[in-house]
Amino acid sequence: MFPSTIFTLCFSFQVAEAAVHHLFVGTFGAASLYTLAFDDEALTLELVKNNTASAGHSWISFDHDKKNVYAVAGSAVASYTVQNDTSLRFDASVPVGGNCSSVHEIFVTASQISPYSVYAVPFGGSASCGTVLSVSSNGTLSHVAQNYTYLSTSGVHGLAFSPNGQFMYSADDSANSLWTHKVDSQTGELTYIDRVVAPQTGADPRHVAVHPEGGYAYVVFEGTSKLAVYSLDNTTGIPTFTNVTFPLIPEGYNATLYWSDEVALSFSGSYLWATSRGHQTNLTGYISAFSLTASGSISSQLFLAPTTTSGGAANAVAPADFSDQWAALTDSELGAVEIWRLESNGNGSKAEIVATLNIEDNGCCANAIWYD
Ligand SMILES: *[C@@H]1O[C@H](CO)[C@@H](O)[C@H](O)[C@H]1NC(C)=O
Ligand SMILES: *[C@@H]1O[C@H](CO)[C@@H](O)[C@H](O)[C@H]1NC(C)=O
Ligand SMILES: *[C@@H]1O[C@H](CO)[C@@H](O)[C@H](O)[C@H]1NC(C)=O
Ligand SMILES: *[C@@H]1O[C@H](CO)[C@@H](O)[C@H](O)[C@H]1NC(C)=O
Ligand SMILES: *[C@@H]1O[C@H](CO)[C@@H](O)[C@H](O)[C@H]1NC(C)=O
Ligand SMILES: *[C@@H]1O[C@H](CO)[C@@H](O)[C@H](O)[C@H]1NC(C)=O
Ligand SMILES: *[C@@H]1O[C@H](CO)[C@@H](O)[C@H](O)[C@H]1NC(C)=O
Ligand SMILES: *[C@@H]1O[C@H](CO)[C@@H](O)[C@H](O)[C@H]1NC(C)=O
Ligand SMILES: *[C@@H]1O[C@H](CO)[C@@H](O)[C@H](O)[C@H]1NC(C)=O
Ligand SMILES: *[C@@H]1O[C@H](CO)[C@@H](O)[C@H](O)[C@H]1NC(C)=O
Repeated sequence: MFPSTIFTLCFSFQVAEAAVHHLFVGTFGAASLYTLAFDDEALTLELVKNNTASAGHSWISFDHDKKNVYAVAGSAVASYTVQNDTSLRFDASVPVGGNCSSVHEIFVTASQISPYSVYAVPFGGSASCGTVLSVSSNGTLSHVAQNYTYLSTSGVHGLAFSPNGQFMYSADDSANSLWTHKVDSQTGELTYIDRVVAPQTGADPRHVAVHPEGGYAYVVFEGTSKLAVYSLDNTTGIPTFTNVTFPLIPEGYNATLYWSDEVALSFSGSYLWATSRGHQTNLTGYISAFSLTASGSISSQLFLAPTTTSGGAANAVAPADFSDQWAALTDSELGAVEIWRLESNGNGSKAEIVATLNIEDNGCCANAIWYD
């Protein structure tokens, strides 16, 4: 092999020294938030702390500087202080109120831009609302700043911001749409801009990620198990479907037996990861990665590989935020977290599982977030 072929894929190993990295993991049932430690040299993954939680948290997210964790908690959003790389302390749980107070919150995320507001959406039943929550100067959740509405038929499952924080995108699974809202830079409150319907009935946008250059949004179509590419107008924020999609299940497979799940960018923004889940335990889910150009268009789908199980309700992929090499994958069929390594094999690339931790508490594992 010529040495040059080894370097055809340039992974970003900016932090190349061996290190132990911590992750926090939520569950669908047990009132626990687990702290895991991944050693990237020994390739071990260990449970280092079982933090007491206020409820089962099916989605968790950091604030902009990782001093707090926000977590969906029934019809409330919970707030934890990150005490150190191991311990989380419950501070507050703020009910979302409004017309959706009977519905469970499904997703929460925090703006990376001042005033660092927190955004939460419910799913299932009458889920026409979203909630903007304010935070105190220390990042602890404070109060509901705005109740806003989608359609009566909506069920938004994922949110993402433009890199400058000016626009928020909502993936509306139940109303088959992608929404754009303008974010007020003083209050964090939202103003409706646009709703674009997905290109196909039953596409069902579930999660969305935005490229750091702001030119593209990547949307997981849960219903058709495709990854769809939208271009973003950098003035209006409005997305346009580019007509480009990639499969998240093998060609010819019956999409009604799968429900695609997550999409997330790698550390450098050079790669995109996406996953699908099997609806039955005798069908595996799939994991895929894509290489991106500097502007964020997709240059190629690197692989589409089966996951260990169907993924259950999880199969949420969480790329590390210090290197392009690693991604965590949660599994709620077994109750496990896996660490996958993206690597060049000389002709292209693939990913393989390098470490697995089983956490059997009848609810693990929902999603994972990398602390350090
Ligand atoms: C974590 O602690 C909770 C509460 O004591 C317990 O129910 C759960 O089983 C523990 N999890 C593990 C993996 O030991
Ligand atoms: C983290 O903070 C908790 C609470 O203050 C403390 O009990 C624990 O010893 C600390 N752990 C580490 C590794 O510093
Ligand atoms: C949100 O809705 C709840 C319940 O209807 C209401 O009590 C609260 O005042 C509203 N908050 C804002 C900021 O509009
Ligand atoms: C709640 O629902 C009522 C009746 O459908 C509607 O008039 C009102 O605007 C809704 N409030 C919010 C905050 O969505
Ligand atoms: C954060 O700020 C709020 C409001 O000032 C205060 O009530 C709370 O105790 C603070 N929490 C921490 C961990 O300092
Ligand atoms: C918006 O995009 C256009 C065309 O790609 C580019 O020329 C312009 O510099 C961009 N503006 C901003 C504010 O990013
Ligand atoms: C996508 O395809 C449709 C139908 O062929 C076409 O009208 C539209 O212009 C295309 N959009 C883009 C962004 O290429
Ligand atoms: C796909 O699976 C569904 C559910 O099992 C079934 O109803 C449908 O006929 C299948 N479609 C094809 C093309 O096999
Ligand atoms: C897979 O499981 C479903 C029910 O969960 C069952 O209907 C189907 O026959 C099974 N398929 C195979 C190939 O075992
Ligand atoms: C690259 O592909 C060639 C031809 O398919 C194959 O012989 C070779 O083993 C591959 N190299 C690696 C490192 O996979």
